[in-house]
Amino acid sequence: METYVIETRDLTKFFGKRNVVYHLNLKVPKGVVYGFLGPNGAGKTTTIKMLTGALKPTYGEIRIFGMEMPRERVEIMRKAGYMPEVPIAYEDMTIFEFLVYMGRLSGMKKGDAVEQAKRLMQYTGVGRLALNKIKELSSGQKQRVSFAAALMGDPELLILDEPTANLDPLGRIEFIGKVLELARQGKSIFISSHIVSEVEKMCNHVGIINRGVLVAQGRIRDLVSVEEDEYDVVTSDNDKAIAFLREKPYVREVWEEEGVIRVRVEPRFLEEFFLAFPRYLVENGVRLKLFRPHTSPLERILMEKFGMGEET
Ligand SMILES: Nc1ncnc2c1ncn2[C@@H]1O[C@H](COP(=O)(O)OP(=O)(O)OP(=O)(O)O)[C@@H](O)[C@H]1O
Ligand SMILES: [Mg+2]
Repeated sequence: METYVIETRDLTKFFGKRNVVYHLNLKVPKGVVYGFLGPNGAGKTTTIKMLTGALKPTYGEIRIFGMEMPRERVEIMRKAGYMPEVPIAYEDMTIFEFLVYMGRLSGMKKGDAVEQAKRLMQYTGVGRLALNKIKELSSGQKQRVSFAAALMGDPELLILDEPTANLDPLGRIEFIGKVLELARQGKSIFISSHIVSEVEKMCNHVGIINRGVLVAQGRIRDLVSVEEDEYDVVTSDNDKAIAFLREKPYVREVWEEEGVIRVRVEPRFLEEFFLAFPRYLVENGVRLKLFRPHTSPLERILMEKFGMGEET
């Protein structure tokens, strides 16, 4: 049986009479990077706050590391790092003080917390701001500090609520690299995000929530039900490639957009297309520069569930 690092049963939250999270059964296997997606107001932050003990469920069960939240909150949070959607309340502390404080909260000795705080400030790119107060930071800098804070105490599980929302482009790329590195070290990582392309680079599992209800959960590759029939192609001689494709009865449509050939294939003949097209190119000395499905697997899952594309 698979071990879950996070498992909820019928997790439900009402605000007054409003039902915001409804009978949620999350199953997050140990060691995966799990993307938690859904439109604005779907209930992601509310769920995450319940997972971390910041908010009490109306009913339902939460087990993290097999322990019960909120009853065993202190023990759980010693092994888990949490990055909230709105980072850091301790406005008057310096970054360094704040990180040491967070380390102490997760049970570290003072000296160890100081060492780790120094290392993590470098790691997250806020080293030269160490003695600045939290309130003096930009929102992206706060988000970096918040990530460092989540990593204090070397937690086995990270719970991150839209961790890249305020990061600059390079910061986002670096962040993805860090998540993958942490995953290789065996950590379990639960991330809520709106950015499909980022989720695809980081996550092998997803949970999709809409209006408080989980509409899909599992490995991305197991959730895709429709095979893509539209492909993007770039070659060293697009005219030649297009001429070939136009002749094929199984090609439904082919057109060119800004140097990229878009081709729609009769799904039953995909195998033949995959064999015949590259072979033709090779035999005619045409180099293949790009060949990929027009939409990614996760985009196809989202379109199926919501009829939506890049932004959730
Ligand atoms: N304290 C509260 N009292 C009443 N309603 C709340 C409260 N907190 C959240 N809500 C409502 O619950 C719903 C879910 O909010 P939540 O913050 O969980 O969404 P989210 O999925 O994180 O959205 P986003 O992508 O915008 O961050 C929203 O409709 C919100 O208005
Ligand atoms: Mg949110």
